[in-house]
Amino acid sequence: MFLGLLRKRRSIRQYEAQPVAQEQIDILVEAMLRSPSSRSLNPWHFVVVTTPSIIGELARSKPHGAAFLAKAPLAIVVCGDPGVSDVWVEDCSIASVNLHLAATDLGLGSCWIQIRERNFDDSLSSEEYVQKVLGLKDGLRVEAIVAIGHPKEEKQGQPDSSLLYGRVSYEKYGQTGGSIVS
Ligand SMILES: Cc1cc2nc3c(=O)[nH]c(=O)nc-3n(C[C@H](O)[C@H](O)[C@H](O)COP(=O)(O)O)c2cc1C
Repeated sequence: MFLGLLRKRRSIRQYEAQPVAQEQIDILVEAMLRSPSSRSLNPWHFVVVTTPSIIGELARSKPHGAAFLAKAPLAIVVCGDPGVSDVWVEDCSIASVNLHLAATDLGLGSCWIQIRERNFDDSLSSEEYVQKVLGLKDGLRVEAIVAIGHPKEEKQGQPDSSLLYGRVSYEKYGQTGGSIVS
């Protein structure tokens, strides 16, 4: 059940050394390519990386929150073309979430690494750094890297008590409703 998948989904940052099988990579690619996009313009480009040295370079794309990627057997870099769609960020986000959920469904662990709006250092953005590492074509933007591998850590799904039901209004903003009150 899809809700069961959502209930168990977590960000997993520790991975076994075992590679992700090509059949599983193919399913992950299919999940991304089945994403809806505004006006069906499909502005995304995905770079699937399994070469450890390139993954190691990507793991240095920002000072915080990316180092764990170095030990992942698979990284998928989610890029978008603003020349194709003005809402490439939304489209890339949907594809990234589909990827994250498909990985969970396959029993893999995954975690989003934010690249857009982040910096490599004082003079270079994380996007510029990743563009150089991967040799992206001019104009292609980088939203995120999704790290993927067989999980080496176990996490329970987020508890029901953590769900922000108070952020949900009914009919008008601020009006309570529904049957679950937190
Ligand atoms: C847009 C976005 C950016 C994120 N960026 C990072 C990141 O750069 N590094 C990281 O370790 N986790 C990142 N995460 C994962 C969040 O930290 C994680 O989803 C959040 O702490 C909730 O934990 P959970 O996913 O296990 O439920 C990101 C998640 C999202 C949705």
